[in-house]
Amino acid sequence: MINKRENTFFIETFGCQMNVNDSEKVAGLLQAEGYASVGEPARADVVFINTCAVREGAAEKLYHSLGRLRQLKTQNPQLVIGVGGCVAQLQGQRVLKRAPHVDVLVGTHNFSRVPELIRQARVGQIPSVDLDRGADAFTVPSGAIAHTSTVRAYVTAMEGCNHVCSFCVVPKTRGPEVNRPSEQIMAEVRSLVARGFSEVMLLGQTVNAYQDGDVDFAELLARVDGVGGLRRIRFTTSHPGHITPRLADALRDLPRVCPYLHLPVQSGSDRVLTHMRRGYTRQRYLDTVRLLRDRVPGLAFSSDIIVGYPGESERDFEQTLDLVEAVGFDGVFVFGYSARPGTSAFRVPDDVPEAEKRRRVTLLNDRQQETQARRNREWVGSRVEVLVDTIREGGSVSGRTPHFRIVHLEGSAALLGQFVEVQVTGAGANSLSGRPCGRLSSAPTHANNSLTASSGNPIL
Ligand code: SAH
Ligand code: F3S
Repeated sequence: MINKRENTFFIETFGCQMNVNDSEKVAGLLQAEGYASVGEPARADVVFINTCAVREGAAEKLYHSLGRLRQLKTQNPQLVIGVGGCVAQLQGQRVLKRAPHVDVLVGTHNFSRVPELIRQARVGQIPSVDLDRGADAFTVPSGAIAHTSTVRAYVTAMEGCNHVCSFCVVPKTRGPEVNRPSEQIMAEVRSLVARGFSEVMLLGQTVNAYQDGDVDFAELLARVDGVGGLRRIRFTTSHPGHITPRLADALRDLPRVCPYLHLPVQSGSDRVLTHMRRGYTRQRYLDTVRLLRDRVPGLAFSSDIIVGYPGESERDFEQTLDLVEAVGFDGVFVFGYSARPGTSAFRVPDDVPEAEKRRRVTLLNDRQQETQARRNREWVGSRVEVLVDTIREGGSVSGRTPHFRIVHLEGSAALLGQFVEVQVTGAGANSLSGRPCGRLSSAPTHANNSLTASSGNPIL
């Protein structure tokens, strides 16, 4: 008989929404096998670390965690330690060399095998490894996913990436693009709505490049938008090279698609963009943003930026500052360049000193904070629709507007998952605050629910 202590697990997740979603799949599969989730590794019989390889710091977090777990394993030799995801895929057996106390190693395409690999490890087959890239990425049944939030559910639309950005390890860790069949996505969305979710976020490394037969991303959005009971649709991440007029129309016309676009630019310098192999120029990015804003009034933008890319001069960096100013993003994630083995940029000297990278990160962030504070102040006095997604300490709650702005408000746990109309009374750089002035229950309506048959080709 299995005693209770043998049935607990703890998952630590590093990285992006895709990794969070993968961990939700692993958690769901383990729960289906009778495991219960616990809040700390010391109480768990299985600890699983889902890893991120995108920057060196993220990858090193794995080894910090494994260092801490070594102690636990000494106290409890039965503890099963699993490592999965991007670092596992990239470093393979090298993880085991550096951390021999790892029992299970699973790649980005093999998460559905985690329960089986744990079973093997528990009967002494150590290490238990599956890094096969040929496996089907979508074998985890929709119903088995243990969603972290009860409000917003992640839904995989596509896996992998066909781009060749010089700095990026993702095509190596997650492989080429694989589009999930649209019927599978639709079935998952319908079942999520039936389970009470109001919002879905469609995920993919270049989600707007989605194509399944005749179904492009705009068509996928239109279909998801037609699912009765669903209130909000978000998606991430979009690549500037795959923005089409059809997508712009979808953002404008589909009532449930939120007016927010995460559109990484990476740099404002043409010289750097060419080296990065991003496939667009500074001007083309700016034109894309302008065209989207013309078609979709009020559309919010956020972006990712890398500073200190090899050879990035002060002038290149100024071009980035200038582009960020020109666009007026609602949020920017700034990263200091991190040389990643296996990428093409790894072969050129990482010649911007770390202190200079840090200076550029800080400067860009400071400028961006000023922009955000200014843009957020414009909302004070208006009324916004907030979907409450977080209960905060001290009895307040927070949620997001359709434009993905965070709003703090007074309220109790009973508001979780509710749509609340909020009068905005204050604004900081990173959030708004306000007071509820009504609870909205009906779905937002929109004048035009149909997509025009305009071009599916890139916008420019
Ligand atoms: N298309 C992906 C990108 C994954 S990586 C997505 O879905 O978001 C996320 C961000 O990390 C990138 O947009 C880039 O800004 C940053 N990044 C990627 N590789 C990097 C590196 N080697 N050094 C610093 N930042 C990096
Ligand atoms: Fe990475 Fe570029 Fe793809 S940033 S995920 S290679 S679009």
